[in-house]
Amino acid sequence: MTERGAVTWPPAPIRTARLVLREPAARDRAAIIELLASPEVGAYIGGPRPRDELERVLPETPEKRPGLFVVELDGAMIGTVELNRRDAEHRSHVRPDAGEAELGYLFLPEAWGRGYAAEACAAALDWFADALPGEPVVLCTQTANDRSMRLAAKLGFTEVQRFEEWGAEQWMGVRSPVTPSS
Ligand SMILES: CC(C)(COP(=O)(O)OP(=O)(O)OC[C@H]1O[C@@H](n2cnc3c(N)ncnc32)[C@H](O)[C@@H]1OP(=O)(O)O)[C@@H](O)C(=O)NCCC(=O)NCCS
Repeated sequence: MTERGAVTWPPAPIRTARLVLREPAARDRAAIIELLASPEVGAYIGGPRPRDELERVLPETPEKRPGLFVVELDGAMIGTVELNRRDAEHRSHVRPDAGEAELGYLFLPEAWGRGYAAEACAAALDWFADALPGEPVVLCTQTANDRSMRLAAKLGFTEVQRFEEWGAEQWMGVRSPVTPSS
C-alpha cells in the first residue's frame, strides 16, 4: 500500500479467535496458485488464471507488499485480505484528492461458509483504523457476487454507487470511520 504515511509495515502477525493474518511466505506458494487458478474464486473477478502460467511466473517466495495479508488457519493459508490504495484512474468522490484505501479479499472455496473471511477482514479493518485513524475504506464488487455483497454488508460497508464495468454491474461501498460518541 503506497502513500501510507508513517504506518509501519509489516505489523506483527494479527491473531483472531481462529486465524492469523501475516505477510506472505514461501510456504504459501501452492495455496496462492490454488486461489488464483480456481474457477470459483475467479468467477466475478475476471476469471481464473492458467495454472501452468502461475507455476511459471510466481516467485518462490510470493510477492510481499504493504497492505497484503495472508490468512492462515491451523498453520495453512486459506485466503488473502488486502488494503490497497486506489490508483488515480479509479478514484471516487469519497476522497477525490487522495487514493482511498480499498479492501479486497480472496478465499479458497473450501474455506467459504464458515465466517473466516468476515473474521479476517474485520481484523484487517481494525488494524487499519488503528494505524490510520479517521480514514474511510472503500470496496468494489460485482452485484452478482452474492457472497461478497453479504460480506460487505456484514463488515459495515454502505452503498456509494453502482456502475457498469467489465460487462457487469459493480457495487462500490464505503465504510466510514467510527466517530467517538463523546
Ligand atoms: C467473497 C468471499 C470472501 C466470501 O466468503 P464467505 O465465506 O461467504 O464469507 P464469510 O466469512 O462472511 O462467511 C459467511 C458464511 O459463513 C457462515 N458461518 C458459519 N460459521 C460462521 C461463524 N462462526 N461466524 C460467522 N459466519 C459463519 C455464515 O452463516 C455465512 O453463511 P452463508 O454464506 O450461507 O450465509 C468468498 O466467496 C470468496 O473468496 N470469493 C471469491 C473472491 C471474490 O469474489 N472476492 C471479492 C472480490 S471484490
